[in-house]
Amino acid sequence: MSDYSSSSALVAGGGGFIGGHLAARLLREGYRVRVVDCKPVDEWYQVHPDAENVVADLSLLDAARAAADGMDEVYNLAADMGGIGFIEGNKARCMLSVLINTHLLMASRDAGVDRFFFSSSACVYAAAHQTAPDLEPLREEMAYPAMPEDGYGWEKLFDERMCRHFSEDFGLRTRVARFHNIYGPHGTWDGGREKAPAAICRKIAAAVINGDDQIEIWGDGEQSRSFTYIDDCVEGILRIMRSDCDQPLNLGSEELVTINQLVDLVQELAGCSLTRHHNLSAAQGVRGRNSDNTLIREQLGWAPAVSLREGISETYKWIYKEVGYASHRFLP
Ligand code: NAD
Ligand code: GDD
Repeated sequence: MSDYSSSSALVAGGGGFIGGHLAARLLREGYRVRVVDCKPVDEWYQVHPDAENVVADLSLLDAARAAADGMDEVYNLAADMGGIGFIEGNKARCMLSVLINTHLLMASRDAGVDRFFFSSSACVYAAAHQTAPDLEPLREEMAYPAMPEDGYGWEKLFDERMCRHFSEDFGLRTRVARFHNIYGPHGTWDGGREKAPAAICRKIAAAVINGDDQIEIWGDGEQSRSFTYIDDCVEGILRIMRSDCDQPLNLGSEELVTINQLVDLVQELAGCSLTRHHNLSAAQGVRGRNSDNTLIREQLGWAPAVSLREGISETYKWIYKEVGYASHRFLP
């Protein structure tokens, strides 16, 4: 492992899922880490005592300047977002995250930050490429001509462009990853912002704990996705940040499954078989989405490798315990 003991990093949004894991990894590598999030610290998913932990609203320029001050690297994981249920119902709120990235870019440029990372999304891809469960996987160039996910996807695509132009016009080295549905322990698993992997683990864990025999699934379950484990996500962020590649890269698994297959897997791990009720009026997003990892392999000689079975097994165990704590039950 390289020695980063003289390096400093800002993890913006580090009270959330991916930022919390990233901050842990940077601390392990010896960085001086500043974590900033707008939530009170007792609501952070992970709190690292060895980091400088700051509560601030990074959509404000002054807060962004204070956060970036003295930092070598800035990782922007801060956004007002969630799974498809949240982003379809909160398009303006999602788009307001543009203020966070704008102000962090300006602050980083003015503070002489060495490298800037932006967390983009598979939601930037044009809708026409995602109309069936088994269409060809998404290559980076398929984001244009642009017709991304309404609200959230437009914000991400605009922010990608802003990173590019801050690099070209101001010399700030920017790096961008397009995350494909990241999951794992210490992520959002209830409250309305959870994505399919956590939602399905929660519903099945709750059924097991409460002795129920039914669950609700959004849509007919034949829509497809690839899901990316958090360890691959953190590894990919660091590899992209440290690379020479200044183009947006997919950071996603290529293991395509339908939602019904995801439910089959979680049921198998949980040792149960439930009756599924398909809610066809719930939010469903695109019909199919997979990552094409040709470019990341070419650029980095690496791509995500954790299987869905391995990742979901760890995630289910963690969510099962969380559901138990939430219902005040002691679980094995
Ligand atoms: P998360 O919601 O767990 O974390 C985001 C954090 O940002 C939250 O803790 C939130 O409080 C914080 N935040 C929001 N507004 C802020 C503000 N004004 N100032 C400071 N902090 C603020 O989400 P996550 O899953 O960790 O996602 C991290 C990043 O990755 C986001 O940019 C998200 O859009 C992107 N992304 C995530 C996924 C995924 O599947 N998790 C997929 C694509 C893109
Ligand atoms: N959230 C959720 N909850 N989704 C469910 C459920 C459930 O209980 N049951 C079935 N689904 C289906 C949804 O209808 C959708 O078709 C699919 O599972 C995936 O839903 P999400 O995981 O919520 O979102 P997404 O894959 O459409 O988009 C997510 O990934 C993007 C990156 O790949 C979002 O989190 C975006 O914010 C993110 O950028």
